[in-house]
Amino acid sequence: MKLNKRDTIFLLIVAGVIIFLTVGATERTTKSVPDNDTHKNVTSRAQCMACHGVEGVKPQPLGHPKANQCFQCHTQPEHWVGSSKK
Ligand code: HEC
Ligand code: HEC
Repeated sequence: MKLNKRDTIFLLIVAGVIIFLTVGATERTTKSVPDNDTHKNVTSRAQCMACHGVEGVKPQPLGHPKANQCFQCHTQPEHWVGSSKK
């Protein structure tokens, strides 16, 4: 098969799109929950919100999603003692 210039450019664009999509899919934009003593022992949302509610030591940022399942977006700490991701 002989490739002319247009074929080559087309193949490069296709390869670029594939690379872009695979890299984008593996990259998480949400921060993981820190794997420290505070975080690995917290097992309920109420506990999370005691610190991450508006009055807490580290409030969630403005416009943060109101979703309850923290671990759906923030990866669990590696040494977490609670049940596995629901
Ligand atoms: C006793 C207070 C406390 C509790 C309970 C707590 N956190 Fe935190 N959290 C903090 C503090 C303080 C920080 C910022 C300092 C740090 O990185 O440890 C933080 C940071 C974070 C961060 C951001 C990490 C970063 O890289 O900036 C996430 C996400 C988070 N917590 C999620 C959670 C979730 C989910 C829970 C419940 C399972 C939870 N936290 C329970 C105090 C708490
Ligand atoms: C629908 C997805 C989603 C859910 C569910 C979610 N978060 Fe977040 N959270 C985000 C996004 C997006 C950000 C902003 C990007 C970032 O900094 O991680 C964020 C940021 C944060 C931060 C600030 C991190 C920093 O230092 O900038 C904290 C603290 C946090 N979330 C706590 C929680 C807690 C506690 C829960 C459970 C009650 C929770 N989140 C549930 C998506 C989510």
